[in-house]
Amino acid sequence: MPEAWKTIVEPFRIKTVEPLGFTTEAQREQILRDADYNVFAIPADKVFIDLLTDSGTGAMSAEQWAAIMRGDESYAGARSFFVFEKAVRDLTGYRHVLPVHQGRAAERILMGVTCGRGKTVLSNSHFDTTRANVEAAGAAALDLPVPEALRFDVPAPFKGDMDVRALEAKIGELGAANIPMIIMTLTNNSLGGQPVSMRNLREVARVAREHGIPVILDVARFAENAFFIKLREPGYATRPVREIAREIFSHASGCMMSSKKDALVNIGGFLALNDEEWVGRCREMLILTEGFPTYGGLAGRDLEALARGLEEVLDENYLTYRLRSVAYLGDGLRRAGVPIVEPPGGHAIYVDAKRFLPHIPPEKLPGVALVCELYRRAGIRAVEIGSLMFGRVEDGVFKPASMELVRLAIPRRVYTQSHIDWVVEVFADIAKRAVSLRGMRVVQRPRRLAHFTAKLAPEPS
Ligand code: F0G
Repeated sequence: MPEAWKTIVEPFRIKTVEPLGFTTEAQREQILRDADYNVFAIPADKVFIDLLTDSGTGAMSAEQWAAIMRGDESYAGARSFFVFEKAVRDLTGYRHVLPVHQGRAAERILMGVTCGRGKTVLSNSHFDTTRANVEAAGAAALDLPVPEALRFDVPAPFKGDMDVRALEAKIGELGAANIPMIIMTLTNNSLGGQPVSMRNLREVARVAREHGIPVILDVARFAENAFFIKLREPGYATRPVREIAREIFSHASGCMMSSKKDALVNIGGFLALNDEEWVGRCREMLILTEGFPTYGGLAGRDLEALARGLEEVLDENYLTYRLRSVAYLGDGLRRAGVPIVEPPGGHAIYVDAKRFLPHIPPEKLPGVALVCELYRRAGIRAVEIGSLMFGRVEDGVFKPASMELVRLAIPRRVYTQSHIDWVVEVFADIAKRAVSLRGMRVVQRPRRLAHFTAKLAPEPS
């Protein structure tokens, strides 16, 4: 019904509301200073529109809240675990399901069991916590995206794909025995929330099979990826999205999920695997660091809400609204003359700060400059994905990242079209005086995942 009309209609009505945090520009300037110009340090009630992340920030449905009340909080063998296990098995087809408190716990457990010195994990693109967990386990993390993934201004339907030729070459160079797994991240969060095609998954799976390397999916945003396949890949237009999702899972032997995204819950995750040996060792680690295998790091009620979320996210009215409302922000920004990663991603719009602020060089963090301006001017919170997140200091020399992006992530079922219209208006205003924005510098950089806690300061004008 909604797709026949131009106006995007949110496929829900609102039952519970929360006021937004109003502040003045002078107050926000002081708040920024107090936060050392790191928006992660700003109290959320001082944020007006929070586009920091789509992770754990979605609104649950009435049915999910009802499921919360059904939570069985038994330590072992809780009814809620079996509801959750069935939902994950029915969706993925994988035999063993381990609940964890969020995605990075699944990463830590799996990498702890499979990685080590001399090993390399290959991926279309590791998310930052995935990379950090691979590296913390002593291995190297190597990204092999298709070349068009880095040409931000050129649209293509499946820029999340892996470069299969590069994959074959790397396997030849490193030796299959040194590659514990290939991780396919759906959608590819680090490079624009772009989807992976079924064709690419099939090819990666074929190469992996030839060399006896397991393929593990990072399925934080599997439903958005599946719907992109339905919309863009020949042969899928009339297939139900749940079937497409099932086919995605069939090309791998396991998955990790941060359920804070496409399971429409505020906390949760899981690891689902077929391999008996891996799962045995993962279960031991799970008990050691998360909890007994029938609750992982979660409460019974969390497992209930998660199971229900995995159903709701595959509703095609929801997915139509989801992808079209993100694209709507992209259309607005493009019209305001703001360069974005093309085409719009599934969960976020990524502004290309390198092109938007060409007068600020990468070492002066143009992405951070824009993030600070968005907060200062209008209380909008976004996140830099650039040289603060991925830049490195090697032998005292700063090595910038290959991109300087600002991600505007859209929480699921939270903001309405007028919120987004307003974000576009703010950008149009910033675009008019973009040349006056100043660069930033890092005052204190922690060793890992620097963007969360780094202290920053504006460059003198
Ligand atoms: N994988 C992907 C693709 C992710 O985007 C994230 C988290 C994780 C794994 C880790 O999951 O947060 O539950 O531990 N992404 C969030 C974001 C933080 O803002 O994009 P987690």
